[in-house]
Amino acid sequence: MNVHGNKVESRYHEVYAKAVADPEGFWAEAAKEIDWIEPAKKIFDPDQGPYGRWFAGAVVNTCYNALDRHAAGGRADQLALIHDSPLTGSVTRLTYAEMLREVETLAAIIQDFGVTKGDRVIIYMPMIPEAVIAMLACARIGAVHGVVFGGFAARELAVRIDDAQPKLILCASCGIEPGRIVQYKPLVDEAIYLASSKPDAVVVFQRPQHICELKPGQDHDWAALRSAALAKGHKAPCVPVQATDPLYILYTSGTTGIPKGVVRDNGGHLVALKWTMANFYSVQPGEVWWCASDIGWVVGHSYIVYGPLIHGATTVMYEGKPVGTPDAGAFWRVISDHKAVALFTAPTAFRAIRKDDPEGRLIGNYDLSSMRVLFLAGERADPPTVEWAEQQLKLPVIDHWWQTETGWTIAGNPVGLGVLPVKYGSTGVPMPGYIVDVVDEAAKLVPVNTMGSIVIRLPMPPGNLPTLWAQDDRFIETYLTDFPGYYKTSDAGFKDEDGYIFVMGRTDDIINVAGHRLSTGGMEEILASHPDVAECAVLGIKDAIKGEVPCGFLVLKAGVTRSPSQIEKEIVALVREKLGPVAAFKLAITVGRLPKTRSGKILRGTMKKIADGDDWTMPATIEDPNALDEIGNALKDRSE
Ligand code: COA
Ligand code: AMP
Repeated sequence: MNVHGNKVESRYHEVYAKAVADPEGFWAEAAKEIDWIEPAKKIFDPDQGPYGRWFAGAVVNTCYNALDRHAAGGRADQLALIHDSPLTGSVTRLTYAEMLREVETLAAIIQDFGVTKGDRVIIYMPMIPEAVIAMLACARIGAVHGVVFGGFAARELAVRIDDAQPKLILCASCGIEPGRIVQYKPLVDEAIYLASSKPDAVVVFQRPQHICELKPGQDHDWAALRSAALAKGHKAPCVPVQATDPLYILYTSGTTGIPKGVVRDNGGHLVALKWTMANFYSVQPGEVWWCASDIGWVVGHSYIVYGPLIHGATTVMYEGKPVGTPDAGAFWRVISDHKAVALFTAPTAFRAIRKDDPEGRLIGNYDLSSMRVLFLAGERADPPTVEWAEQQLKLPVIDHWWQTETGWTIAGNPVGLGVLPVKYGSTGVPMPGYIVDVVDEAAKLVPVNTMGSIVIRLPMPPGNLPTLWAQDDRFIETYLTDFPGYYKTSDAGFKDEDGYIFVMGRTDDIINVAGHRLSTGGMEEILASHPDVAECAVLGIKDAIKGEVPCGFLVLKAGVTRSPSQIEKEIVALVREKLGPVAAFKLAITVGRLPKTRSGKILRGTMKKIADGDDWTMPATIEDPNALDEIGNALKDRSE
């Protein structure tokens, strides 16, 4: 079956087998879609990096492939970007020629600050076209961008500044959330104050919704620099970089409060993303594609910015929410206004839409005839949500599984190669280049339909992280050590008899809140920093819309006389201040003690089952069985 409803045999099995039999031949063929300055000396060099590098010796420029070649190749007047913002009531359209002009101008401005190939630039911006322009301008001059999501607090930004040591920060005066303006500049200033590595300068894009004050000696006005550069015809050409040079760093939650800097290189990323656009997503150059994520996440990097532009498609950038901007028909309005052929979003967005419009009444108000398929990723797609979306849209709904580390899908249902039968609850089959196994603790394959750790055989395909920024050792220890010969995904699940993969949850302390990846370990560090807290545990508990939300259990220090409810409020505020509103940390509960094993391990798994209302059994190793009843009672009191 294809997305037009015609019965066609899927080419998946044939294509997948080809990639297994001859990975280098497969990716060399895919690489023909990219304009190289110099071809690779080795398609895969096993001797470089912790597990090898793709397209070693090749010279390329990512921005050239995303803009210049399309502008020169007949797409100059085609829209590259449509920015649709119900939060500001505006729609902005930029053709490939206009995008190129903006990007080459900003690239020259960035160079004027002394930024050259390999230097880092932090981008802390909301969902506005200038954020995409900033990313591409860095790519153009070989600078390495690090985009930080706007919902993170100053401390998180500071940690990233210290790790990336940027020469320059690009930011906007504000972000806009429903009902409130998020001032970015005070957060940037505080982060610079907290960081030990100080950037040389900050370039600020002033949004009319909030004009911030510029600090003399530090801040520069984006618009003024732009006008001056345009007046002089000041532009930067593309700087050739090695395919193996880093394009960007994207920080993601690790098991501690110190995030991991996932590195993406230029060559493998170009090849892999270009391959996915037609073969996985079934989108053709010139078509309008919409990925409703945020540029602060990997999904946004790959499929708001790079994938569609490398492919010559038109990308929709949406500054709004699935509900409340103004209603649960917002997504249908955007599809219908811009004639998008596909939408890619997180299941949480559909749960939110379904809650507000369970009968799907608002869908009927819009013309969705352009749309062929819905893609979901970022968290487990619960079968009821998938079925609801299918029934409402009468279109294929395709779940696919990936991680910040991989940059593109590990397993899915490749629409472009011909849709395979959909199995609810499964994220589909492995994509070419990925050999996915399910193993036990000794790295031995487990039988089909048996839960285990999901691992990917090395080498990972192009586009996957070659390492962590400046931390090869941490990369090897985190991903390559527990299961020799494999990359550890830290996801658990199983494979069925047809090779379909079912991803059931993480094996570490990462939780997924509204499609956002967060570390409970990082939150525990914040809770433990409160002077009245003796001990704590943070768990992800079920939430009907966000999938999971964090819940913190606190044990107060002996002798604390202040009211627990006051301390709980302070804890909620502290997480918001230190980690950011995106943590959605609203539940802190004081208990007399935490349930532990006799060896002192907190029984997080059992606590979670109690909080989720699931069946649970008393662990044989528990130190004091009453401690679990206390947890149950505390939760009951809270919900009453
Ligand atoms: N800048 C500043 N604050 C932000 C922000 C940003 N870029 N993004 C979110 N926040 C804030 C929100 O305003 C909210 O603050 P509040 O506690 O004051 O209400 C908080 O962070 C939590 O945000 P979010 O998890 O987005 O919840 P929400 O209630 O605003 O919206 C959904 C819920 C389901 C509508 C929303 O999460 C959604 O659209 N999710 C899609 C997920 C997605 O795109 N994931 C990317 C991976 S594919
Ligand atoms: P991130 O790095 O933020 O993209 O988060 C990656 C994690 O999200 C994965 O390790 C999974 O735990 C989860 N995830 C992403 N996509 C899916 C999916 N389609 N099904 C189940 N879990 C998913």
